[in-house]
Amino acid sequence: MAPLLPSINLFLRVVRRREDGYHDLASLFHVIDLGDSMDFTPVSGSGSDQLTCNVADIPTDGSNLVIKALKLFRERTGSQQRFKVHLDKKVPHGAGLGGGSANAATTLWAANELCGRPATNEQLLDWSGAIGSDISVFFSRGAAYCTGRGEIVEDVDPPLPLTTPLLLVKPPVGLSTPEVFRSLDLARRSTADPLELLRGLAARGAIDPELCVNDLEQPAFDVLPSLAQLKQRLIADSDGRFSAVFMTGSGSTIVCAGSDEAPAFLGESDCANLFVTPARLIAREAGAWYEPSKALT
Ligand code: C5P
Repeated sequence: MAPLLPSINLFLRVVRRREDGYHDLASLFHVIDLGDSMDFTPVSGSGSDQLTCNVADIPTDGSNLVIKALKLFRERTGSQQRFKVHLDKKVPHGAGLGGGSANAATTLWAANELCGRPATNEQLLDWSGAIGSDISVFFSRGAAYCTGRGEIVEDVDPPLPLTTPLLLVKPPVGLSTPEVFRSLDLARRSTADPLELLRGLAARGAIDPELCVNDLEQPAFDVLPSLAQLKQRLIADSDGRFSAVFMTGSGSTIVCAGSDEAPAFLGESDCANLFVTPARLIAREAGAWYEPSKALT
């Protein structure tokens, strides 16, 4: 059993649209302590990997990043090992929390552990960019300034106390990352210098709504107008308890910082289908995220 952790973006600037259809980003990712869990069982023979999941609408075929990660691991290491994997999802998908990417990173890590560590952490980080833009961050120390498609990862000191309380609020509707990027109007982006945002957060040591900019927020609101209303309500009806309220990734999760106490309106019947959970930022000093002796049973 391996615990795994998603991430939030404390800021996300889109730098430019690239020839290959992707966008260069400059973003401060931070891992958070809200996780799915996964079971890995090595199986003998040369058949297919098998994936099962507690949530019915998650594909378990070759389109799932877990299956792609196992294939990538074998291609890069020459291993022939197949696995049976069970994924117990708690992090909603289409949430902008990198849940699927965290699943893929954990899969690379677990396959490597169970095969006697043929690869280094740095190689796993490097390889993971081939199957997704925001998997590499899960091989960082927790707070990472990410550029390129998101796969170029630079560890930074956590700019905020890890005790900063967060409340995550996600509507039942998820957002598709490609769709949000398609509705991005580059002319409406922030003009803030991402390195200034990084320095500003580190200097303040506290969440600042001026610094937590996300260039994907407006296009996400254009795709899902009710998300803008949810954000406004979280600001207006929370008795000022949140120091900042902002969308993470390509949505549809709204991060409320400064308190993990849910405002009263979230208990009303029209909010019953929202995903609401407290979370904390998490970082490590060095070494693997997971103690193999604790994480693999
Ligand atoms: O890399 P990943 O599979 O997560 O990206 C999903 C989609 O999101 C891409 O096909 C692309 O449309 C969009 N994307 C982008 N620029 C990025 C990351 C993702 O345009 N840096």
